[in-house]
Amino acid sequence: MSAVAAQPPAAQPPAALSEKPVLEITGLSVAYRSSGADVKAVERVDLSLHAGEVVGLAGESGSGKSTLAYGACRLLRPPAVITAGSVVYRGRRLGGREVDVLSRTPDELRELRWREIAIVFQSAMNALNPVLRVRDQLLDVVDAHLDLGKDEAHERVASLLDLVAIPRDRLRSYPHELSGGMRQRVMIAMALAVDPEVVIMDEPTTALDVVVQREILSQVVELKERLGFAILFITHDLSLLLELADRVAVMYAGQLVEVASAHDVHYGPAHPYTRGLLNSFPSLRGARRELAGIPGSPPDLRNLPPGCPFLPRCGFATGSCAAIDMSLSPVPGATDPWHVSACPFVTPSTPDVARPRLAGAGAAAGGEPGRASGPVAGGAPS
Ligand SMILES: Nc1ncnc2c1ncn2[C@@H]1O[C@H](COP(=O)(O)OP(=O)(O)O)[C@@H](O)[C@H]1O
Ligand code: SF4
Ligand SMILES: [Mg+2]
Repeated sequence: MSAVAAQPPAAQPPAALSEKPVLEITGLSVAYRSSGADVKAVERVDLSLHAGEVVGLAGESGSGKSTLAYGACRLLRPPAVITAGSVVYRGRRLGGREVDVLSRTPDELRELRWREIAIVFQSAMNALNPVLRVRDQLLDVVDAHLDLGKDEAHERVASLLDLVAIPRDRLRSYPHELSGGMRQRVMIAMALAVDPEVVIMDEPTTALDVVVQREILSQVVELKERLGFAILFITHDLSLLLELADRVAVMYAGQLVEVASAHDVHYGPAHPYTRGLLNSFPSLRGARRELAGIPGSPPDLRNLPPGCPFLPRCGFATGSCAAIDMSLSPVPGATDPWHVSACPFVTPSTPDVARPRLAGAGAAAGGEPGRASGPVAGGAPS
């Protein structure tokens, strides 16, 4: 059986990828310094986000998703250091000016954050100040970034709650008086308070039950359509991104291994790791199949093996895999012309039946070739 689903729906036209991206990350590397070897949490990542686009960033816990996003916004503290790369921001309000994020001073960064790039942090819904009413917390943000009169600022804050469908009388509530879903919506309203062009959402719904998660996600999509911001949506749950994102970037051991339209990732995945993630959750439609998961566990980021970091867990591995340089290249035969993968050996038409693995590779994974022996990947929230 091929990895390509039998009857894929028509491909969506790709976003306007020919335009210059609003956020362009190039060759970004981030390490956590330690007395032993550095933890290479992000290695030479290229990722761009276009105006109005939703890019999903998927990968197991510890793959470097949050480090990539926070590194790109210069929000990391020591021992994290950006060791290479560039990040360029081009917002509409800047009138064609490009901002080199990594060379900005702290004051310049303050102007950029929230107003241009807003972040909903992982576990953000627990980050509201417990002793301040919702209204005062929202007013703090509006006052810090916009020059509005008192009445105007109050009206703006009230309309922010309208945006996320929370009744205005909740402005007087304290966080503990709100449900988890409402608190997360307040955090989203806070991120949108001053009309950012880019919103980074780091596992925004992971702590919520699926029904509330769904409500919030559809609201996020509706807001994006209405207000036109772009979203970098980070999650360990690839299945969410297949519905939500225009493009999906899959991260493994600090590196991007595949980037493609959500359609291509769903119906024509190339990289064996992406295939493993897709095989870790059931599909609502289509034939019943065994969930294979991914054997083994991710490598130690202080001591990555040469070549492909997925080698010890990959059912397609050959002797050549330890010598590849892990750059992303166009995928032959892909529907999406921007579909790229770091695996030069497996394409969407490669059958899923695993070839026998190298003896050493199987042993390193701690399992039998082609069989799930370790925890199923993609399940644990960060
Ligand atoms: N302060 C730190 N010191 C050392 N290593 C860290 C630190 N923070 C994160 N890491 C490591 O960096 C890697 C990437 O972490 P993270 O970006 O949080 O991954 P994700 O968001 O995908 O779960 C992990 O291996 C993690 O253990
Ligand atoms: S086939 Fe080789 S290069 Fe491709 S993912 Fe597997 S181990 Fe990596
Ligand atoms: Mg994270």
